[in-house]
Amino acid sequence: GLPEFVKIVEVGPRDGLQNEKVIVPTDIKIEFINRLSQTGLSVIEVTSFVSSRWVPQMADHTEVMKGIHQYPGVRYPVLTPNLQGFHRAVAAGATEISVFGAASESFSKKNINCSIEESMGKFEEVVKSARHMNIPARGYVSCALGCPYEGIITPQKVTEVSKRLYSMGCYEISLGDTIGVGTPGSMKRMLESVMKEIPLGALAVHCHDTYGQALANILTALQMGINVVDSAVSGLGGCPYAKGASGNVATEDLIYMLNGLGLNTGVNLYKVMEAGDFICKAVNKTTNSKVAQASFNA
Ligand code: HMG
Ligand code: MG
Repeated sequence: GLPEFVKIVEVGPRDGLQNEKVIVPTDIKIEFINRLSQTGLSVIEVTSFVSSRWVPQMADHTEVMKGIHQYPGVRYPVLTPNLQGFHRAVAAGATEISVFGAASESFSKKNINCSIEESMGKFEEVVKSARHMNIPARGYVSCALGCPYEGIITPQKVTEVSKRLYSMGCYEISLGDTIGVGTPGSMKRMLESVMKEIPLGALAVHCHDTYGQALANILTALQMGINVVDSAVSGLGGCPYAKGASGNVATEDLIYMLNGLGLNTGVNLYKVMEAGDFICKAVNKTTNSKVAQASFNA
């Protein structure tokens, strides 16, 4: 059956902005995160400690991390691909991190410039250092329902990579449909495989909406007992190393669906819509959230 409470992991400031061509001013990012912090969200992914040559939009990671107001009860994880990123994140005040692997060999090469096997070595170092400092580490598995370079990815491969990340100490594994090609059918088959090896309570789904399947895929995951869902306000997002990948599922649309199902999130939909309106105006975009479109036009 459906879980009673769903934890939303807001990835808008990171996944949502990383693919924006025009550099968003640091003070806008900080205000955006501060606004999100006042919506009831309990997890907000803030930035990435990656190379500014690879992802220029995240070059101000330290300033953003140091500039935000950290509200009590809200966690502010950041992406760290290797020890260099991890040390910089800690120096900037990060108290929670995520490593990001892939179930596709080609995507791993394009995204983080190393093989899956090499990436696991780097992640192991990061997660080990994090544990010594009592810093919780999350693990992403990209291309869980398909790869922009290889096409089909088997549930077995997703399970294998997830198991590696879980075994090294990641407390939560976020299964990413990076290019939004999954359907409730492929989501169900993939989760059935992963759930045989990893406890349900340690799994999350991260759905991009490229093919318009994100909410259906999320509902499928919820029906299978998963209660952690990643989303981005206004449906911002995309990965620079996955051409054609569009935004994440919109946080507004996710909350609207969860409210309708009677599932508790602790998040105020109206306040999230206001934060979405703020960032869309700041980056001169129209929202991808159907709920926000409908509400602001009403
Ligand atoms: P590399 O070039 O292989 O790194 O990059 P290297 O170790 O060979 O070092 C080369 C240079 O990079 C050196 O500088 C290092 O200092 C520097 P130089 O001596 O030439 O001046 N460097 C760094 N600088 C800053 N921060 C670091 C760092 N590490 C090395 N952490 C690296 C490897 C991973 C850094 C690079 O490939 C990179 O930054 N990739 C970007 C990955 C990324 O951010 N992708 C998007 C996020 S993933 C995603 O969106 C998917 C997700 O949402 C889930 C889903 O949807 O599926 C999570
Ligand atoms: Mg993503």
